[in-house]
Amino acid sequence: PMNRHLIDKLADGGELTRQELARLITDDSREIAAYLAERANAAREQIYGRQVFIRGLIEFTNYCRNDCYYCGIRRSNDAVSRYRLTEGQILDCCRQGYDLGFRTFVLQGGEDPYWTDERTCQVVSAIRQSYPDCAITLSMGERSRESYQKLFDAGADRYLLRHETADSEHYSRLHPAELSLAHRLSCLQALKEIGFQTGCGFMVGSPYQTIDHLVEDLCLIREFRPQMVGIGPFLPAANTPFEREPAGSSELTIKLLSIVRLLHPRVLLPATTALGTAEHDGRERGILAGANVIMPNLSPLEVREKYLLYDGKIATGDEAAESIRHLTASMKKIGYEIVTARGDYLV
Ligand code: 5AD
Repeated sequence: PMNRHLIDKLADGGELTRQELARLITDDSREIAAYLAERANAAREQIYGRQVFIRGLIEFTNYCRNDCYYCGIRRSNDAVSRYRLTEGQILDCCRQGYDLGFRTFVLQGGEDPYWTDERTCQVVSAIRQSYPDCAITLSMGERSRESYQKLFDAGADRYLLRHETADSEHYSRLHPAELSLAHRLSCLQALKEIGFQTGCGFMVGSPYQTIDHLVEDLCLIREFRPQMVGIGPFLPAANTPFEREPAGSSELTIKLLSIVRLLHPRVLLPATTALGTAEHDGRERGILAGANVIMPNLSPLEVREKYLLYDGKIATGDEAAESIRHLTASMKKIGYEIVTARGDYLV
């Protein structure tokens, strides 16, 4: 009953202390998860209704200069067959996506030195010119402020850069020494200042993660107020240092989606591919817990199995058209509607 009271406080715009957030996270009763989902769902519905926004994910390069311990496409994974899409292939993905009703394209890739500002801006401008009514989201890691500014000026609207964990010591246990939380946060700050709709986010159940780390993740979101937040369970990836580590909990991931919705009601919140991979009904459960975005894969079928951030990743065989039909049906079944819209953050 006490923890229900915490949810009421959160849903009514109150600010929970770190200790209260920790209590909510550690309460593993079904009633609390259900009540969190109920309040989060109502909060989402007040702002965005029962509409679910779709983003077409185009995995345009799996080359990466980084060596993150959790990630399947890390530099030292020799088992990965590397690829880059051409500008023509990327535009073909957009055309297919547009015809299926997508009005946001997400260009996601590793930190690939081939994709200089000049080459990336060229592709962004081409998409901007062909699809003036679409949002362009980039998700290609850490770059300089000047570089982010050029991408924005070329026509990109949004940028996804998960912070991965808001605890710097934990950050250093997930990444090699050349990467730091401080630098990641300075990138996020620059993106926001430039005017990108900016997304941060974290994995749930990554190795060495504690409850206090999750509380810090929530506090960072409460402070930074990103327009988007990506949260998914950690899933082990073959040929990485963490390949034998246990997966994160889907139940906890779903609870965190609800808490994030309640402490930042306007946020654009995907039911992530990782959640959909961990549970057959993960995306539906994410939506029912307060998420309002789904990011189907528009990458060419030939490269899907090469972009494996973790094992068992879904949608490695479905055509985009096929997956959107399934998705539309499964959302309808739970009372939600996939819409053809940019799905911008509502101020
Ligand atoms: N499990 C879950 N999520 C992962 N990501 C990378 N590797 C994994 C993994 N093994 C997530 C990171 C990254 C996003 C693109 O994918 O959070 O920011």
